[in-house]
Amino acid sequence: MTATATETTQAPSGTPVLRLRGVGKTFGAVSALTDIDLEVHAGQVVALVGDNGAGKSTLVKVLSGVHAPTSGEVFFDGKQVTIDSPSKAMELGIATVFQDLALCENLDVVANLFLGRELKGGHLDEVTMETRSWELLGELSARIPSVRVPIASLSGGQRQTVAIARSLLVNPRLIMLDEPTAALGVAQTAEVLNLIERVKARGLAVVMISHNMEDVRAVADNVVVLRLGRNNGEFGPDASNHDLVAAITGATDNVVTRRSARRSGGADTTDATADDAAAPTAGAHAAPTLSEEDS
Ligand SMILES: Nc1ncnc2c1ncn2[C@@H]1O[C@H](COP(=O)(O)OP(=O)(O)O)[C@@H](O)[C@H]1O
Ligand SMILES: [Mg+2]
Repeated sequence: MTATATETTQAPSGTPVLRLRGVGKTFGAVSALTDIDLEVHAGQVVALVGDNGAGKSTLVKVLSGVHAPTSGEVFFDGKQVTIDSPSKAMELGIATVFQDLALCENLDVVANLFLGRELKGGHLDEVTMETRSWELLGELSARIPSVRVPIASLSGGQRQTVAIARSLLVNPRLIMLDEPTAALGVAQTAEVLNLIERVKARGLAVVMISHNMEDVRAVADNVVVLRLGRNNGEFGPDASNHDLVAAITGATDNVVTRRSARRSGGADTTDATADDAAAPTAGAHAAPTLSEEDS
């Protein structure tokens, strides 16, 4: 227990790499995002969670220059910025791995890593690209059998690894991953979560969208809940499933939260009223019904 013990995984100091203040996005009459605040620091993984339609993808698109926000302010390294195109996002150092990964099945790993930015010295420098590919995948301790096999022959986890490695080639400061473990098996999920840890260890700010609370708790330093396009609670990595589900669904009493509370030895959530959907943020933080053994 030295002086550094006071420095927990939370509340990082200094200027955040990314900060949003009051960001909103409307599509005609639809408010996809309303008054969103968010901070992501270097070396921090922020999980963005929420039900379908909560606004997660829209937020990622706003930050990757696909959609312009209709209100609010975005700060990068403390400076206010306008991310009005994907190239502007890239220029700032914001990389995005979209859910479809955008890899070319028939091309090999090297070709996919360097797609669109092949190293040239009058010709494609295959040797340099291959060396750089091995270096990068080695730094990430990625388990790829060969960089000369087509993407089509790789597992889902390996493809995700290639997509993440590809986004790291331009040395971004912030990387956003949309559902990186969706549709992956247990072993592959573990591999991708380890990879996220290593990306974080490189000092990048990471935003991970996920539906899987186990994955979220495994790697996130901070969990930000969106609901119906608004902030609906912020949690540390030790948040219980009960609290997360309550914030995500807006219901403090449903079958999932009740079972979670029972399992963790807590009392039932008698404070919950079914029509109390407007108070989940306060409730999620305040309800002390869970014992500490749920981790
Ligand atoms: N291009 C669009 N045009 C109109 N409405 C949209 C568009 N994109 C998203 N929305 C709406 O914005 C809301 C948030 O959607 P989305 O960001 O995809 O949520 P999530 O990714 O959390 O499931 C939804 O109501 C959705 O229908
Ligand atoms: Mg989405």
